[in-house]
Amino acid sequence: MRIAIIGAGYVGLTSAAVYAKLGHTVYAVRKDADKVKKLRRGEVPFYEPGLPELVREGVVSGRLIPTTSYAEAVPNAEVIFLCVGTPPLPSGEADLSQVFAAAREVAENWGPSPSPQSPPIEGGEVNGNPPPLVGGVRGGGYKVIADKSTVPVGTAEKVRKLISSQTSVHSSQVEFDVASCPEFLREGSAVHDTMNPDRVVIGVDSDRARDALLKVHEGLPGERVVTDIATAEMIKYASNAFLATKISFINEIANVCDEVGANVDEVARGMGMDPRIGPHFLKAGTGYSGSCFPKDTRALHNIALNHDYDFKLLKAVIEVNQEQRHRFVRRVRDILGALEGKTIGVLGLAFKNNTDDVRESTALDITRLLMKEGAIIKAFDYQAESNARHEITELVTCPTPEEVTEGADAVLVLTEWPQFRDLPWAEMKTKMRQPFIFDGRNLLDAKKMRLLGFQYISVGRP
Ligand code: UGA
Repeated sequence: MRIAIIGAGYVGLTSAAVYAKLGHTVYAVRKDADKVKKLRRGEVPFYEPGLPELVREGVVSGRLIPTTSYAEAVPNAEVIFLCVGTPPLPSGEADLSQVFAAAREVAENWGPSPSPQSPPIEGGEVNGNPPPLVGGVRGGGYKVIADKSTVPVGTAEKVRKLISSQTSVHSSQVEFDVASCPEFLREGSAVHDTMNPDRVVIGVDSDRARDALLKVHEGLPGERVVTDIATAEMIKYASNAFLATKISFINEIANVCDEVGANVDEVARGMGMDPRIGPHFLKAGTGYSGSCFPKDTRALHNIALNHDYDFKLLKAVIEVNQEQRHRFVRRVRDILGALEGKTIGVLGLAFKNNTDDVRESTALDITRLLMKEGAIIKAFDYQAESNARHEITELVTCPTPEEVTEGADAVLVLTEWPQFRDLPWAEMKTKMRQPFIFDGRNLLDAKKMRLLGFQYISVGRP
């Protein structure tokens, strides 16, 4: 099939590369000419394991076509996925301006393409050759416009109205359907998750749209959940909100464990063996972060409020998550004393391991709180240092994890990079002023750290 993906971030680009791998011809539309130029060379502008290889494979095969041009992609596409950002507004509501702008561009470019050629982008060659182009001008035919971005219920309907109202679409009498096809990939394992979905949710209101979307996903494992559009939109929010609830729940259990002397890791293991509960997303720590859970929980709470429903449980989930990072900082202060002038080594800045993403990162928030109290921070992350320095310009980062321990009064583990487990801790201890480790991710082996002579403090593991 011929597919256009609007937006080439984590979701858009991974989906585009995977659909190309499945044999479809995929236009990946991104406005930034410089980024498109890089994509055409197989360079991905963010860190996501396995994605550059897949993008390069797609580009070289000619099935993945990064482009800045809606006019090239849209007329050629049978299915168009909207994968643009839906960041939070100050009110907590999802900002849908990028979704509507993309839909408007789709409508405006519906007709036959003015040129069958990719617009030339200097330096956009693959192995010295211009990127291969598959297919010529088509346009005009039936299309499905499917939201992959996380959007409130009713958004697909608004996209339908917006596209219908555009004269270019009216005049050419085109037929189209809107749909919701939410994505469940996690950053850091985006390629694996997209290639191995547990389920493919297809929210449609016509057989034609259903068949097109089923065809797009042929070859991928996982159950197909074909449902109406509003339900599909809700499945995405409900899934993220439930996972966030699991995390806030286990964090509260961890806080009680701290008081009563129980071990939250063992509690989670014992709970998780019940298939009704499941073992996943029961890792206690400093709280969930990233570009999805914080935004989506707030957005769902807002959606409910807009319908005069006070989603009390979700409100508590959000509050518990906020409080968890402050609780952690309080713990550090209670044990170390006033933080003014104390040197603190921070291991981990990304919102989770295997990513360079620092959006809504609790690690960054905790770092900011410590700096505000006058602590001297030396930080390290395997991928996220430059993004972190962009957020906190005065942040001092070290080229190796070992270096954060030099002269430190304490080391804080704030991102769950598994590599931190195998650092030469015994040697690192000799460089520290005081042997305190605060493990905000319950990552390290408590027994081992204590045997090495550390004062080791974690979350819910007294
Ligand atoms: C999340 C969902 O897991 C994906 O299914 C969804 O597609 C994605 O949001 C999205 O809506 O786009 P992501 O935010 O990339 O994926 O990463 P997660 O692995 O879910 O981690 C989110 C946060 O929760 C991280 O800060 C992580 O450290 C934290 N976490 C996760 C915990 O604190 N405990 C856990 O047990 C699991």
